[in-house]
Amino acid sequence: MKTTITLLLLSFSLWSFGQLQVVDLRVEQLINPIGLDIAKPNFSWKLVSSQKNTMQANYEITVASAPDFNKKSLLWNTKVSTDQSNYIPYAGPILVSNMRYYWKVTVSDNHANSAMSVLGSYFHTGLMNSNEWTASWISPPPSADSVSRPSPILRRAFQLKKDIHSATLFISARGLYEAMINGQRVGQDYLTPGWTAYQSRIQYQAYDVTNLLIKGDNAMGATLGDGWYRGEIGFTRSNNLYGKELSLIAQLLVTFKDGTMATIQSDKDWQGAIGPIVSSEIYHGEVYDARKELTGWSKAGYATNSWAPVQVKDFPKILISTYNEPVRKRERIKAVKFIVTPKGEQVIDFGQNMVGWVEVKAQGPAGTRLEILHAEVLDKFGNFYIENLRRAKQSNEYILKGNGQEIFEPHFTFQGFRYIKLIGFPSKVNLEDFTGIALYSDMELTGQFECSNPLINQLQHNIQWGQRGNFVDVPTDCPQRDERLGWTGDAQAFARTAAFNFGVQNFFSKWLQDVAADQRPNGAVPFVVPNVLGPNAVASAGWADAATIIPWNMFLLYGDTTLLKRQYPSMKKWVKYMTDSSRQHLWNKGFHFGDWLFYSLGNDTDGRSAVTDKYLIAQCFYAYSTQLMVNASGVLGLKEDEVQYQRLLENIKSAFLNEYVSRNGRLTSSTQTAYVLALEFDMLPEGIRQGAAKRLVENIIAYNYHITTGFLGTPYICHVLSRFGYTDIAYRLLLQETYPSWLYPVKMGATTIWERWDGIKPDSTFQSAGMNSFNHYAYGAIGDWMYRVACGLEAELAGYKKSIIQPRLSDSLQYAKASTITPFGKIASGWKKENGFTSYEIEIPANTNATVILPVSDAGKITLDESPITSQNGLKLMEPVSGMVSFTIGSGIYKFKVMEVK
Ligand code: BGC
Repeated sequence: MKTTITLLLLSFSLWSFGQLQVVDLRVEQLINPIGLDIAKPNFSWKLVSSQKNTMQANYEITVASAPDFNKKSLLWNTKVSTDQSNYIPYAGPILVSNMRYYWKVTVSDNHANSAMSVLGSYFHTGLMNSNEWTASWISPPPSADSVSRPSPILRRAFQLKKDIHSATLFISARGLYEAMINGQRVGQDYLTPGWTAYQSRIQYQAYDVTNLLIKGDNAMGATLGDGWYRGEIGFTRSNNLYGKELSLIAQLLVTFKDGTMATIQSDKDWQGAIGPIVSSEIYHGEVYDARKELTGWSKAGYATNSWAPVQVKDFPKILISTYNEPVRKRERIKAVKFIVTPKGEQVIDFGQNMVGWVEVKAQGPAGTRLEILHAEVLDKFGNFYIENLRRAKQSNEYILKGNGQEIFEPHFTFQGFRYIKLIGFPSKVNLEDFTGIALYSDMELTGQFECSNPLINQLQHNIQWGQRGNFVDVPTDCPQRDERLGWTGDAQAFARTAAFNFGVQNFFSKWLQDVAADQRPNGAVPFVVPNVLGPNAVASAGWADAATIIPWNMFLLYGDTTLLKRQYPSMKKWVKYMTDSSRQHLWNKGFHFGDWLFYSLGNDTDGRSAVTDKYLIAQCFYAYSTQLMVNASGVLGLKEDEVQYQRLLENIKSAFLNEYVSRNGRLTSSTQTAYVLALEFDMLPEGIRQGAAKRLVENIIAYNYHITTGFLGTPYICHVLSRFGYTDIAYRLLLQETYPSWLYPVKMGATTIWERWDGIKPDSTFQSAGMNSFNHYAYGAIGDWMYRVACGLEAELAGYKKSIIQPRLSDSLQYAKASTITPFGKIASGWKKENGFTSYEIEIPANTNATVILPVSDAGKITLDESPITSQNGLKLMEPVSGMVSFTIGSGIYKFKVMEVK
């Protein structure tokens, strides 16, 4: 007994010193998820320690059915000596549906510290088998589904006769839904059930609704919206892409305190009516007539005389639980300026191009009609500009009911905007009545980048805002015009940058399953996923390769082999498609977008437009995807595949050399993109690579240090330059302020990344309205170079288990610093030129280590905490290579000084 107390005290004191903590417990990368339907979900956690060089020595996971882990409730316990702290699969008794499982983890480290997680972590299972869906799909009564498509409301009242212990609602829709119970909104998610390849998979959500229910009379229901399911989607003026009818499925499982259960579910006993949403479309916005509100419709006791019975449908129950973060309200943005434009329009400026909607406070007589239009920019004269939205109306309309202040926001739409135009509002406008609400997938903000150049900082800001606006459940090209589609090329170009800035593991993991679901039987990957453009809109080089590039990058950055394994068949099918379409290993067939939106001139008598042969590009991506198959099969231990893909890769490369490279190493297209892709993907024999890099530099100089690449060359150009010893040129491109360059839009006042290098021309006129989005993340792919090269944050082993920290300094910057959150915790690297020395601040998360490579001639010039590094404990110096000193370090925060200013 005494020893136990002493031990307890001892371990308590260890915890209270905080030397080691185990934090951020996740199941399937989510904190306390509800509704998981995975048989063996995985566990992850992070270690935090005030001691350097901390590695996990062992872990002990305990799973129980009660939060206090009493003996009776214990289900699984496992103790393993390992440094693995991510993706540990559950291996206890079979998980039961709709159950809450509590878990904790105790960890010991290599310094003999132990720590236990704070209690309270859990995961709640979903419906593990689709046959547990006893609820039916129900559609509104025919009377509530007129041609004009107002939003129907479906409801039912019910009684709960006993004291409630807990209750979970499982719910989804064909269309969008917003659920209510007893007058309160269920959850804080928007645009649910999200967008998937609906014909194959529809997500359901699960909510803990214990607190919304009472013993006695209750009511529940949902409003439905057209959304992606049957609204107008794609630029082909199509609606009803997945079906004509909206429907709801809902299953409420209530457990009473006496252990008995009740199920309330969507069935023939529900009723439907039309509510205040007169119409609602993703592109066009919403019309809301407050006079038609059915006050109290989701409360018990509401009179439903005018309501009609719903229709029960036997649609397939292809329901899967939701793993990606739902769309939520994130930032609230204040209106900054009221403008009356030269045309006399009433306009409000929010100062930031964003995606979501505006919450409006208004007051006026019943029947007053207020309209809000949304735009990204004002034109040259300062007038409201909407031509670049093409057919998307982006308009929300509210009709007042006329009793005091009313607050409005739409439900089943979203807008891309910085400016709004008011129609029907009083002439005196109060800015406080308008709040911009940014809505997007609720990903954790993980990345920060800052340097001494404010324009670059604005670029970083624009990259992050471009991501916010285009990560609304699927990775979209743009969020405003009649498109907003999951363009695969844009997504693959930006995916790595995205993973620095926000936690995108589950976001892409979900979307990649739609990529696989929408892939054609012959392996062709669609231009957009979910595919709404038809079976022939497939297989463009650099677009379809999203199927190989993104899974590989997600594996590299997050270290989860499950995702790679799951995507492997899809990756394989895509490469097979290219092989099947090739002759003698040359893929020179079919339609390709090519280096989309490269630098081009209207009147090009001199041949300055940077046109790259589309088949040269296709061959490069064919090789790259095959290289990724070599990598992936290697990681997954598929030896035979690895050998086969290696052989195929060699053949693809020699076909490339035969077709596109002269004996002197000149490419048949002499563009930046051609050289960039050939070098980035190792298409050339080593002996001629440096020469090719020189040609690339000559080309850049010929354009007076301007970039001429489009979507496919842009992500790699600076990487290729720094890899071949031209970091200074990479910095010149990054810091270039005139068109075409990354900073040109910044100088023109951009607050997000533009689709085109010259969306707004120097004379303030616009590029052609048909293709001119001001929120398109693809060119933001430079962010990856800023983190990985300027600050030198590189994952050497998957998931940053081991990193390389190799900052590359610039003559034009005083400092740069960056950080991101890896699966092990925060990693950071920054450098600063001080008086007579350079300082480096590096942070390596616990349970990992890193190789640091600094640009200095001699290790003797480096100090750590004021003493020479040569004598530092735990730091291993490696052989110096040409002006570089490298050494390995364990976890911790390090401040190095280098007695040299580069
Ligand atoms: C989209 C792009 C997309 C492209 C295909 C455009 O309309 O906005 O970003 O990748 O089509 O080339």
